[in-house]
Amino acid sequence: MSVLDASDAAMLAMAARAAAGRAYAPYSGFHVGAALMFADGAIVQAANVENASYGLSLCAEASAVAKAMNEGRRGGLVAVAIAGGRPDAEGNAVPGPEPVMPCGRCRQMLHELAALGGTDPEVIGVADGGLARIMLSALLPHAFGPANLG
Ligand code: THU
Repeated sequence: MSVLDASDAAMLAMAARAAAGRAYAPYSGFHVGAALMFADGAIVQAANVENASYGLSLCAEASAVAKAMNEGRRGGLVAVAIAGGRPDAEGNAVPGPEPVMPCGRCRQMLHELAALGGTDPEVIGVADGGLARIMLSALLPHAFGPANLG
């Protein structure tokens, strides 16, 4: 199932790639960007932020969720694109053959923001051969969320 039309999906993928250019990932060398699209058309971008204490590193998607929520957003999440890879000579992340899909923690963080607005966002992973598109509910079935806390 797809939510975005092909041109919006391509645009959001480009936004994720642009965000990856701002990654701070000196330890893994793996630069990731995420772009969240909201129902009002806004796009919130972020990249991974690593730390010399490696385990403290923040994924691009987690950074984007935190950024959006600090801008006051609570729901309205329509889609998220993720692009990652090792940087080329110009510092642009080069996607590999497998799309980057959100890690487990990030799936949960995306679910929280989505659940606040009752949406099931489309997740778009960027690979060198194209885009992989899947709904968040398929990546995180039977998710635990705000509704479980009554
Ligand atoms: N990373 C992300 O930013 N998002 C993902 O979905 C997977 C992994 C980051 C974390 C770390 O900075 C680097 O990629 C290597 O794992």
